[in-house]
Amino acid sequence: MHKIAIITGGSRGLGKDMALSVAAKGLDIILTYNTQPDAAAEVVEAIRVTGRKAAALPLNLSETGGITTFVAQLSNLLQTDFEDRKPDFLINNAGMGATIPMAQATEAQFDAFLNVHFKGVYFLTQQLLPLMNDGGGIINISTGTTRFSNPGYSLYASMKGAVEVLTRYIAKEYGQRGIRANVVAPGPVETDFNDAAIRNNPQMKERLSGMAALNRVGNPDDIGGVVAFLCSDDAKWVNGQRIEVSGGLLV
Ligand SMILES: NC(=O)c1ccc[n+]([C@@H]2O[C@H](COP(=O)([O-])OP(=O)(O)OC[C@H]3O[C@@H](n4cnc5c(N)ncnc54)[C@H](OP(=O)(O)O)[C@@H]3O)[C@@H](O)[C@H]2O)c1
Repeated sequence: MHKIAIITGGSRGLGKDMALSVAAKGLDIILTYNTQPDAAAEVVEAIRVTGRKAAALPLNLSETGGITTFVAQLSNLLQTDFEDRKPDFLINNAGMGATIPMAQATEAQFDAFLNVHFKGVYFLTQQLLPLMNDGGGIINISTGTTRFSNPGYSLYASMKGAVEVLTRYIAKEYGQRGIRANVVAPGPVETDFNDAAIRNNPQMKERLSGMAALNRVGNPDDIGGVVAFLCSDDAKWVNGQRIEVSGGLLV
């Protein structure tokens, strides 16, 4: 029986490549989208043509009250379209970026980053774990900017740092069920993230490229394969770890 992975923010960017890469390992995929149902439907179709099952559900992590509704929709979907199977992996990928110097950060911005990047991840994971099979895993997507400081990222990186701590607690508290929890921390990747800052700003792209030992910024397909590895038995002894995937950024 094929395992099932849930990928938040699977409609584009890194999450899209994760969905395709994890499906290529033989897993069925349930991805979420926030504003782009058509893009999500395209990813679902691209997976289905490979022979794997796939579906998309809406999820807005800004409104953490919606998590219970999402979990109910997911349970229904698993019953109707996935032979009442249980998910094996949860990949907490959805997120947004903004460059906000600490001196200008507002409480509303703090709460927005808190909800999407930490509170949402915490309670989505808490609510999904009881529904998941033993022996699977949680993969939380963090960022290189928890290890080094990028001015303007204090809100964003602080929430990601919290997720990294949470990941080790998940590993400890759910290890008895054989559930592994790991962090994948990408360096800068050219996506729509932060108003497509890297794509739209050649100078920034050159500066960031020069910070990596491999002398370029990342592409989504630099990241998805690492997530797919963590969803495989090849990674069965990898637990409680932070894997930075950045081409050797600031090494
Ligand atoms: N790109 C980078 O340089 C980089 C580097 C390190 C870490 N990351 C992390 O990687 C993850 C994915 O980033 P990306 O570059 O792929 O960004 P992206 O291209 O902007 O895609 C963001 C994804 O998250 C979803 N999303 C956004 N806000 C959401 C919300 N409030 N609730 C639920 N879903 C939401 C989007 O859904 P819709 O498409 O439906 O709007 C989309 O699927 C994020 O956690 C980000 O922090 C990115």
